[in-house]
Amino acid sequence: MLDLHAQYESIAPEIRAAIDDVLAAQQFVLGPQCEAFEQEVARACSTPYGVGVASGTEALELALHACGVGAGDEVIVPAFTFIATGSAVTTLGARPVFADIEPVTFNLDPSHLEMHITPRTRAIVVVHLFGLAADMDPILTLAAKHGIPVVEDNAQSIGASYHGRKTGSMGRAGCLSFYPSKNLGAYGDAGMIVTNDEKLATRLRALRNHGQTGRYVSTERGWNSRLDELQAAILRVKLRHLADWTAARQSHARRYDSLLGDLPGITLPRVPTGREHVYYLYTISVSGRATGGVGGGTVGKNPSGATRSDIVQQRLADRGIASVVYYPVPLHLQPLYASLGGKPGDLRISERACREVLSIPLYPELTAAQIERVAQAVRDALRD
Ligand SMILES: Cc1ncc(COP(=O)(O)O)c(C=O)c1O
Repeated sequence: MLDLHAQYESIAPEIRAAIDDVLAAQQFVLGPQCEAFEQEVARACSTPYGVGVASGTEALELALHACGVGAGDEVIVPAFTFIATGSAVTTLGARPVFADIEPVTFNLDPSHLEMHITPRTRAIVVVHLFGLAADMDPILTLAAKHGIPVVEDNAQSIGASYHGRKTGSMGRAGCLSFYPSKNLGAYGDAGMIVTNDEKLATRLRALRNHGQTGRYVSTERGWNSRLDELQAAILRVKLRHLADWTAARQSHARRYDSLLGDLPGITLPRVPTGREHVYYLYTISVSGRATGGVGGGTVGKNPSGATRSDIVQQRLADRGIASVVYYPVPLHLQPLYASLGGKPGDLRISERACREVLSIPLYPELTAAQIERVAQAVRDALRD
């Protein structure tokens, strides 16, 4: 799915020099690299403030906590996302309330949101999934009507935009992950919260560092969630390349679009007008129940109950091509949340997405020949 070696080889001297600088300085936590990186990411997201933290998950936890989410509160989250979006809520003792998504963008469906708002709703988490912004205007309007803060889970979409506004800059806080596979990936864990709100940024700086507001003076319970200098220095190097890498992702996506656009039975990523997709993933939907046997390409019974996307995945694997189902289980049906009472059929679009999606390799260093090979394998895999 991803060749991190290829990327490292293209920037190795810059990375090594940046690491050497940190080693020479011997300052490893909350130093000048972190501070500079916070400013650079904030600028890239069109926000005045950035607060570096230890991961995208903790970015969500701290942001939600700073928005007032605590035990007994409800937080609306989409059901089709990575588990961290939900677990950030439960870590705070609050209850995630799962909402359905739009079939085309895989993002929160604004028209399904209001029915989940109760007097206990303390925040809405919007995920910009796979590199594409959610439909923010109706969500922000609804949230403002009810006085509920919106936190953007921007783990997958750094650089994406919605009608000229960067993802992460539209809500009360935007949460970024620099997990190694992300469009801007560290060599370990790292995350950041960006915001337009100076007071919130000041509070978050205290929260990430044991609630300290002065030297060895803590005014509230906090976390140890700091972005270390080595990761910040590495990420600063990579940030300088991000625009080129994003352009390469977009160009590869257009190539897949043209190579796969005529295939019946699959849906390609669609980008609504006014949004810029940064293609963290290139995710196709393969609809319908399976009829062919896995691996053999023969039409026949499928006793395993596999979906057509399972079969395509297996046929790609047979040719040495990786593909991944992000995500096979919606949050409301996760065993972790069984006590919340979610049932199959509750959130049909999310459940269908889990059965149909398949992400195929897309990263900046892919060659034209590799893209053609993957596309040909998808075409062949869809033949019954
Ligand atoms: C949508 C989403 N939210 C949250 C996270 C959590 O980020 P991290 O792995 O940096 O904790 C991730 C990525 O892993 C993600 O994809």
